[in-house]
Amino acid sequence: MAQPKVIVIGNEKGGAGKSTLAIHLAAGLLHGGATVSILDLDIRQQSLGHFFSNRRAWLAANGQTAPMPREHPFDVRLAVEPEDVVLARFEAALEEASTSDFTLIDTPGSDTALSRAAHGRADLIVTPMNDSFVDFDTLGVVDPVTLELKRPSLYSETVWNSRKQRAMESGQSIDWVVLRNRLAPTEARNRRRVDERVQALSRRVGFRIGPGLRDRVIYRELFPFGLTVADLSPSIKPVAMGLQHVAARQELRALMAALNLPQDAGAKVAAD
Ligand SMILES: Nc1ncnc2c1ncn2[C@@H]1O[C@H](COP(=O)(O)OP(=O)(O)OP(=O)(O)O)[C@@H](O)[C@H]1O
Ligand SMILES: [Mg+2]
Repeated sequence: MAQPKVIVIGNEKGGAGKSTLAIHLAAGLLHGGATVSILDLDIRQQSLGHFFSNRRAWLAANGQTAPMPREHPFDVRLAVEPEDVVLARFEAALEEASTSDFTLIDTPGSDTALSRAAHGRADLIVTPMNDSFVDFDTLGVVDPVTLELKRPSLYSETVWNSRKQRAMESGQSIDWVVLRNRLAPTEARNRRRVDERVQALSRRVGFRIGPGLRDRVIYRELFPFGLTVADLSPSIKPVAMGLQHVAARQELRALMAALNLPQDAGAKVAAD
């Protein structure tokens, strides 16, 4: 499978872990030596924009350096502009990003024209979902009595339409990977049930299932510093390091490999 260039992180369900995943993929790619363009299409929330401005400030205050992406900001005032103006900005940003090795696009947890346009331009769509039937609901409808999969639902249809549009316009296909996020070690029964439905849906609508991410404090506690576990080193160490951090790095590496992305070359972290 070819290496993707335009990567869209999407799921209409809010709070699934899109921005968290986008930040970690960006850091992994940057440490692998790639140039990465960031488009944050959640114009109001701007999680990625805030993360990278935290990063700039933390590094400057601590006299440290770490790789930065190229940012292509969407002004918050665009949120009230007509659709054609917003879509024109998106096309311009994609064009600006075309010289980067990767364009990483974070999308909002809702169905917007901008999000749909991005899905239609993806080489790879990555969909994190919380390990819960509440999150599964936007991907597939399950029978309330038997819990059997009945049909794909909202977000699966959006991706289906993007794939159709892409195939008609350029004859190219879009790789789609769904992965479970915030996995908790204690929920074996729920996990098995969700797992079976995700597998059934995967066969029905044609996505690959990626290696999941556990619920780990390290995935959220470094946000205010603009750092991720991939950035930690003996000199960049705002929190004490432990075995959990090593496990998180392994989890992210497995995910990057499944997405056919180059591996993080800066394996610097060591448990204290
Ligand atoms: N694997 C994880 N371990 C621990 N916390 C996580 C993990 N993934 C996400 N979180 C936390 O879950 C919350 C939601 O994550 P995030 O903001 O990335 O979701 P989102 O899909 O971007 O949400 P939205 O739809 O609002 O944009 C955040 O508080 C984030 O720190
Ligand atoms: Mg988000």
